[in-house]
Amino acid sequence: MERLLNVLFNLTLFPGGILVLLVLIPGLWVFRFLYKTFVKKEMRVAGKTVIITGASSGIGESLAFEYAQRGANLVLTARRENLLQKNAEKCRQLGSPDVLVVPADLTKVENNKKVVDQAVEHFGGVDIVVCNAGKGHSWFFEAVEDTSEFQKIADIDFWGNVYPTYYAMPHLKRAGGQIVVIDSVGGFIPYPRQSLYNAQKQGLLGLYDTLRVEAADEIDITIACPGYIRTAMTEKLPVEQLGPFPLLPVKVAARRIVEAAVRRDRYVIVPGWYKLFLLYRIFAPEVMDWTNRYIIQGEHHRPALLGQIKQWLGYKVVD
Ligand SMILES: NC(=O)c1ccc[n+]([C@@H]2O[C@H](COP(=O)([O-])OP(=O)(O)OC[C@H]3O[C@@H](n4cnc5c(N)ncnc54)[C@H](OP(=O)(O)O)[C@@H]3O)[C@@H](O)[C@H]2O)c1
Repeated sequence: MERLLNVLFNLTLFPGGILVLLVLIPGLWVFRFLYKTFVKKEMRVAGKTVIITGASSGIGESLAFEYAQRGANLVLTARRENLLQKNAEKCRQLGSPDVLVVPADLTKVENNKKVVDQAVEHFGGVDIVVCNAGKGHSWFFEAVEDTSEFQKIADIDFWGNVYPTYYAMPHLKRAGGQIVVIDSVGGFIPYPRQSLYNAQKQGLLGLYDTLRVEAADEIDITIACPGYIRTAMTEKLPVEQLGPFPLLPVKVAARRIVEAAVRRDRYVIVPGWYKLFLLYRIFAPEVMDWTNRYIIQGEHHRPALLGQIKQWLGYKVVD
């Protein structure tokens, strides 16, 4: 009977659902426009308390400056205290009323609780958590000799988001707050040499899309998927991994992310042209695989043609 029902669903629900979708899309666009214009208000950031993980450098540092310019109180966390203190000072100059620095290694579960507890103790609550801390890698899956490398990536790129979110959740619910996640286009593009990283980023999409449903009406969630951004992380990547893609300046990326978060957008992909890959993923996955294999990775792990061209043009090559 169940098998029969599934066959029936395949024959009726799938085509029927596509028809409904085609009818729904124009109406949904109009609804979204009216809802955003007349109902959904922009998030007021001034005076709010914002925790930013990975605020010592790169995207996290620039996000801190963006929130500071908008008058938010900040809690900056990462491992390198000297950089956090320097960024805190700049945030105060840019307009942040109060900045708390909490040095912490977020791969240790208890440190995530410590960051949230100290924020609550100092500011009386938390309104926004920006989960940004992370690290990349540049190895082929099968080339890894020490398998503890896998765990190290997951510890910060996945669990380093789960735990600050978990501990901040009750405070965010009380405040009607927001989570801003710095995911990656790696969550939907199978870039070679970053399988474990991509896996964590895809996991984050699943986590936060589900939390958005579970905590609807209480917490807003904006998932940011940056493409290649000029930071310390991309500076370490070999030219073959970057492929032909240009890097976006980090300030531009951070501004677009905060603007989207303030608008309470569900997703933001920066730069926007990476959205193209979402369509290829659904409608032409083979083409996406070939592009990644031959243009970025190179056939049989040889440098790809476009990587070679970049080298000829004088781009720095990192071994
Ligand atoms: N750059 C890109 O092209 C790009 C593209 C897509 C997504 N992203 C994402 O953007 C986020 C920021 O990366 P980024 O490019 O700005 O690189 P980055 O400059 O290297 O910044 C990474 C941040 O994470 C922190 N961090 C790393 N391990 C940590 C740990 N164990 N505990 C606490 N903090 C830790 C680092 O601080 P400490 O070293 O001081 O601890 C640093 O502040 C990452 O999640 C990354 O996946 C980047």
